[in-house]
Amino acid sequence: MADGSGSERALASKAAIEVEGLSHYYRPNKGKPVHALDNVSLQIKDREFVSLLGPSGCGKSTLLYLIGGFLEIEQGKLLVSGRQVTKPGPDRGIVFQHFALFPWKTVLQNVMYGLENTGVPRKDRLERAQHYIKLVHLDGFQDSFPSQLSGGMRQRAALARTLAVDPDILLMDEPLGALDAQTRGIMQEEILSIWEKTQKTVVFVTHDVREAVYLAERVVMMSARPGRIMEIVETRFADRGPGVMDRPEFTEKASYIWNRIKGEAALADIGQSRMGGH
Ligand SMILES: Nc1ncnc2c1ncn2[C@@H]1O[C@H](COP(=O)(O)OP(=O)(O)OP(=O)(O)O)[C@@H](O)[C@H]1O
Ligand SMILES: [Mg+2]
Repeated sequence: MADGSGSERALASKAAIEVEGLSHYYRPNKGKPVHALDNVSLQIKDREFVSLLGPSGCGKSTLLYLIGGFLEIEQGKLLVSGRQVTKPGPDRGIVFQHFALFPWKTVLQNVMYGLENTGVPRKDRLERAQHYIKLVHLDGFQDSFPSQLSGGMRQRAALARTLAVDPDILLMDEPLGALDAQTRGIMQEEILSIWEKTQKTVVFVTHDVREAVYLAERVVMMSARPGRIMEIVETRFADRGPGVMDRPEFTEKASYIWNRIKGEAALADIGQSRMGGH
């Protein structure tokens, strides 16, 4: 079991993600195929924290689903830990953009569910689930049903469920999108601290440029659909901590990225009106 200190952790490079020439088309029953990703190549190192940024509809979620093994790979190569991805696995935990909690299970049952078939002994599951529920600040709500929670609370419950499994790779699709600013700040710190402690590989999708620059070591900018890699920007700063956001080097990087993304979003709008929504 990957506990962050086990000797298997020492065998580096196990959670690297290699994407090469990856394209993806959605083929709805009616209408034309949708070209979502075009010839995407990206190398993510073991234990790296990477953010994906790009205009709406550029294929960020698609790329995450492909890495997660939820979509079939038709064109290109996608290796995780050196192996071709064919299906989901416990090495890759995903927090979906639209939080996927079982409505008929309580918070605790939802988090416990993630721990079934993971090798965590039954007696440890309750304790582990409660630990992560506390970590996302949902203590007191473990017996609540999703319908009784706010959007932000549901999102945190989904985060707890994925974190509790302790996957080597965390795929997070706008996991903080529904949170208020203050909770969002707290959760950013929690995610950073989890990443620093457990050294997982993280692929984090966000619409928030400052969040991407703050959390990630590299920000991957994607073009409007069909999504391509537009540019990858290093966003490592000498020290972490929220104070870094006030530094000139942070603001400069953030505004550079913001300007490029803004241009791309405008392009996406023009493209959509010219092509009648396609
Ligand atoms: N099942 C599907 N069938 C047809 N088209 C789809 C399907 N899922 C996604 N698409 C289209 O593929 C493109 C990429 O979608 P995707 O959800 O990956 O974008 P995204 O970058 O995550 O967008 P957002 O920022 O809005 O979440 C979009 O144009 C979307 O409309
Ligand atoms: Mg998305």
